[in-house]
Amino acid sequence: MTTETLVTIRKESDDASFADIDPQDVALALHTAGSVAIRGFQASLDDFVSISDAVCADWHDYRGGGFRFGSLDRATVDTESSILTATGSTQTFPVPLHGEMYYFQERPQVLWFYCQVPPAGGGGETTVCDGAQLLAALPQEVRDYLGANDLVYHRRLEGSDWRQAFMTEDLDEIDRICQANNTTMTYDPESDVLTTQYRTSAIVVGSDGTERLLSSLLPVWFGEQIADAGTAGDVLHEESGRTPPIVIRTPEGERVPEQIVYTVYSVGEALEQRVDWQPGEILAVNNTTTAHGRTESQDPDRLIYVRMGQFAT
Ligand SMILES: [Fe+2]
Repeated sequence: MTTETLVTIRKESDDASFADIDPQDVALALHTAGSVAIRGFQASLDDFVSISDAVCADWHDYRGGGFRFGSLDRATVDTESSILTATGSTQTFPVPLHGEMYYFQERPQVLWFYCQVPPAGGGGETTVCDGAQLLAALPQEVRDYLGANDLVYHRRLEGSDWRQAFMTEDLDEIDRICQANNTTMTYDPESDVLTTQYRTSAIVVGSDGTERLLSSLLPVWFGEQIADAGTAGDVLHEESGRTPPIVIRTPEGERVPEQIVYTVYSVGEALEQRVDWQPGEILAVNNTTTAHGRTESQDPDRLIYVRMGQFAT
């Protein structure tokens, strides 16, 4: 069993070219290690598209994504609708370790990041952490808690938010999407608010029986804390006054205890590997095995693109 989470493919000599990278090596590293950084080649956006197209297909348009809200919306890069800017790309706050879209049943298997403009002044690194190592490193009582208590993701989407999140106004279609994702949905015509619930475990069992901790627990839980503290406007640089669009409760309606969340946070922080960015560098993350996040950055102008897809084979 490998303990390596991140494989780096580095340009070793002047005559090495991006075109020489074998996509099968990238795919293999995604399956064995969980994440792959391609560094030093000063890859173009076209290179990024071609290497990701060689490994993945079925590009995700982020329909159903939880964070298409106001300034947090992922702007779509106009040349290619599957290329998005990283969540909150104009924001500087850190994002703790999480699996992408684990609040929804249908989610991308692979995340591809491409650095156009690196963050100035340090920080803004992308973090990766193997979900099996994270689970194994937790104290037994935390593993017991997460094994015994499913998470219920409650989303509350106001009128413009649900139309944006699901990219449609058709409630029947949204109902079909929710049913296909084991998600219950309620719509209140009076307030034009859509609410959904999705229940799942934070411990995900792979096809080979490997147990991993992969969930959206940390960013959702801390997001609610920030909203409670009334600091969301400061952090997001907007006057929203909104209730959090997504929260996590136990099936009994309780919040996940603070000590559970803080333990997962600190154990993850000790295990995670950090990828700092240079222009034209690429990082691919296997979203079925490996959590990711981002450290705080002082630079709101950094530009990281994201593509999310399924393994082609
Ligand atoms: Fe993410």
